[in-house]
Amino acid sequence: MTPEEFFYHVFCPLPRQGPGCTGATQRAWYYLPDLPLYAQVLDVGCGTGAQTRDLARLTNGSITAVDNYQPFLDILDARVQKEGLSERVRTVNASMDALPFEKGEFDLIWSEGTIYIMGFMDGLSSWSSLCRKGGFIVVSDIAWFAMNPPMDLTQFWEKEGCIPLTEDEKTEQVHKAGLKLIATYRLPEAGWWEYYYVPMLERIIDLKKTYGTHPEFGPILSSFEYEAEIYQKYKRYYGYTFFVMQNP
Ligand SMILES: C[S@@+](CC[C@H](N)C(=O)[O-])C[C@H]1O[C@@H](n2cnc3c(N)ncnc32)[C@H](O)[C@@H]1O
Repeated sequence: MTPEEFFYHVFCPLPRQGPGCTGATQRAWYYLPDLPLYAQVLDVGCGTGAQTRDLARLTNGSITAVDNYQPFLDILDARVQKEGLSERVRTVNASMDALPFEKGEFDLIWSEGTIYIMGFMDGLSSWSSLCRKGGFIVVSDIAWFAMNPPMDLTQFWEKEGCIPLTEDEKTEQVHKAGLKLIATYRLPEAGWWEYYYVPMLERIIDLKKTYGTHPEFGPILSSFEYEAEIYQKYKRYYGYTFFVMQNP
């Protein structure tokens, strides 16, 4: 196994590959009363699809779930098959910066914890062309909640390739991308801890029995533990914010 394969090996059986929770996904629906009953939904960076399956329960429409890691999509396919959702959920292996869809094809573009890979502004600008006029875009992304975050925290996120902005700075980017901001709300702490870090830390305890002293994999496991520690120590400074937007 390469270190990259090991990274995915850690995440494959986890309930989610990023912070999130069903309640936060459901909450967006309060702001989307005009969404058609049979909406066409695109879920970008779906992972094994915790939020994809929540979306499929919130709409009678169809979900196209995109990721570029096929084993995640295989897990999602098996889950939707088992839950009787496969008629309305299809998976597509594609890169988020070259999505193989028509302009205006979707009523709703959804993405949880993934847009940072392209950058908030670039992701919005690129994906919005796939959203029909009057359609909606909802993303969750990391943001600073307090000014003057400590240096070790900013350095940690920079090293992760994920540079947080404040919610106000992100709101400006929403407008620059030509979108209308309908609402913002923050992911509750349970979405980080109970549904993300707790299952991850349990898996790490298990994996450490085999890989704890491995020269390449051991440090990867420790880095995940460090990320969870950083969250506990500094959670008042940052978190995920959901941005609910409309393509005017
Ligand atoms: C932080 S995870 C979030 C997954 C899921 N939305 C969740 O919250 O559980 C980011 C996801 O983006 C996928 N990804 C990374 N780079 C990608 C790319 N260039 N195109 C499509 N998906 C990508 C990863 O495989 C992973 O599933």
